[in-house]
Amino acid sequence: MEYENILVKDNGKVRTVTLNRKSPLNPLDMDTLREIKDAILNSGNRVILLHGANRAFSAGADINNFMKLSNDTAGVFAKEGHDIMNTIANYPRPVIAAIHGYCLGGGFELALACDLRIAHPDTTFGLPEVTLGILPGFGGTQRLRHIVGETVAFGLIATGKRYKADEAYRLGLLNELSENYLETAEKLAQDLAKLPKESLRLVKHLVRNSPDEKFEEEIDAFGEVFAYPDREEGVKAFLEKREAKFQE
Ligand code: COA
Repeated sequence: MEYENILVKDNGKVRTVTLNRKSPLNPLDMDTLREIKDAILNSGNRVILLHGANRAFSAGADINNFMKLSNDTAGVFAKEGHDIMNTIANYPRPVIAAIHGYCLGGGFELALACDLRIAHPDTTFGLPEVTLGILPGFGGTQRLRHIVGETVAFGLIATGKRYKADEAYRLGLLNELSENYLETAEKLAQDLAKLPKESLRLVKHLVRNSPDEKFEEEIDAFGEVFAYPDREEGVKAFLEKREAKFQE
């Protein structure tokens, strides 16, 4: 597969996949996610390091596409997104996200699907989908809840709150904060690549949460929310750079 949205570099037993969209905050469209999946599955079973070029890891799913989705196609979109996130979660070697700038929406869901997260202290995190009249549709409701618990997860997702890396670290969402986040992640990836791969594969399987029926419900809910008028208003308001006026 030819890659247009990512860069791939191998260094021994580590493959680095860099999100490199033309837009500076690396919005994620399905083509980009498909390229990430392909680069991981065809890595020769290397440890994977995922990060973003430009100003961000990723500011989320590409909002420009959300006006084109309908009730039906949104469910299909979420299902494929889930499959790609599950590929990362099920990949037999560790997948590390090295995060800077913004890690929002689908970008945060991509990071949550990884096994380890190392971030620059200036990074902003959040699942702001409700502020657009939609909801996280790539497994974020479930993965965030499993990591931080339902009280905190509901508060964060229901308000769409954005928070800095120190709070993400305090909540257990990050393994490490580092000014040299990329070098720190590269060293960790090389260290993990030297460890026995079957032990790591089994540990990953045992420790990681497996998708259950609530993951499936998230796909349906993502489709459903596209039937309501607040989605059109929320997405339009973002594109027109104004505050959304939702129904009473
Ligand atoms: N999808 C598509 N384009 C996006 C995007 C997204 N998720 N996030 C940012 N962009 C685009 C902006 O539209 C802008 O494009 P333009 O230069 O053509 O106008 C460009 O990236 C830079 O963003 P801008 O908002 O000008 O940068 P900023 O530094 O002022 O603000 C953010 C950065 C992250 C705070 C702001 O872009 C933002 O809130 N983005 C949306 C985040 C979001 O809701 N993500 C969840 C999506 S489901």
